Amino acid sequence: MVLDRVTAPEPDAILRLMRAFADDPRPGKIDLGVGVYRTEAGETPVMRAVKAAERRLWEEQRSKGYVALAGDPAFLEAMCVLTLGDAVEGACVAAAATPGGTAAVRQALDLVRMTAPGATVWVSAPTWPNHVSILTAIGQPFRAYRYLDAETGALDREGMRADLAQAREGDVVLLHGCCHNPTGVDLARDDWARVAQDCAARGLLPMVDLAYQGLGDGVEADVAGLRSLARAVPELLLCVSGSKTFGLYRDRVGAVLAVTEGSATRDRVAARLAGLNRQAYAFPPDHGARLVTMILADPALRAEWEAELAGMRARIAAMRGALADALRAETGSDRFGFLADQRGMFSLIGATPAQMDELRKEHAIYGVQDGRINVAGLTRGTVARAARAIAAVLA
Ligand code: LMR
Repeated sequence: MVLDRVTAPEPDAILRLMRAFADDPRPGKIDLGVGVYRTEAGETPVMRAVKAAERRLWEEQRSKGYVALAGDPAFLEAMCVLTLGDAVEGACVAAAATPGGTAAVRQALDLVRMTAPGATVWVSAPTWPNHVSILTAIGQPFRAYRYLDAETGALDREGMRADLAQAREGDVVLLHGCCHNPTGVDLARDDWARVAQDCAARGLLPMVDLAYQGLGDGVEADVAGLRSLARAVPELLLCVSGSKTFGLYRDRVGAVLAVTEGSATRDRVAARLAGLNRQAYAFPPDHGARLVTMILADPALRAEWEAELAGMRARIAAMRGALADALRAETGSDRFGFLADQRGMFSLIGATPAQMDELRKEHAIYGVQDGRINVAGLTRGTVARAARAIAAVLA
């Protein structure tokens, strides 16, 4: 028997939490687990521009025939402009649409594995657990670089620099474009410049995972660091997700982009990315990608999308401020002041797994075992109770 020997993987901590939350009958439960945006009413809405584009697509679409292995070129062009702007020559960028940002990460890392199997991929400590899971699954060597200074809740600049100094030519440095998951700590302009200089001077390949554009400081501001990096290095891998930025979670919208040195390399990389798609799922999904393309191309839809995204960003920032204030009042200290300074959905509150268990069991507050909370899961109505519980458990 073959299937009889299959072993189940360790359950994914984030996804296990989703199930546990759904099964919890307590009425006041608060979901600060999986990284989805929620409104003040606790909903994850279909964005208005998406709804409008969907209506139009329903009217106008005449075929569901295959598009192309790399996806619709108009979508890839739109993603390139949205993320990289004029930082690079479009002619140097190879790209492929993927089912979500996760598949973009997978395809990018598969490309690395095929081309440089001995290269070490440097990941921040901590990073999104699926980075580690994918690296482990494909057998690519990886090492961690220090990132979060747990004392201050800020970037551990010295640690990051010292660890990346050990990277060798041809190694890959995996960075988060903005709204770092799980720390909420982003690189400042100078940090991007330093990493760019390091990569260019020492032949390191930067790989940027960009899943939260527009949820930190703004659609353009959130990619300023990425663009400065792209201007400074000869090559770059970029993995983009449309899940959070367009609220298209289940439609699986993503793209992998490779900035290359010239068109000959670009053509080979593009062919390889299309080939990776072919082997993994043949054609990438088109529906969500088409909606994104329509929104970005139509000034009215784009304005509607940007306005709603700005509202989401403002709500997250407001929840950060409210939680930091409530925790200041509860603890009489500024211990959690960093929450207001960080960006995006996530922060680490410095809790042990046992404390996260206690938050869940005693207070019906669901956060990830590593101490990550999704601030976007809070509302004006729940923030005080969450602060009280966090203060009680972490006291
Ligand atoms: C998260 O980090 O919670 C999200 O990116 C969802 C996921 O797939 O893990």
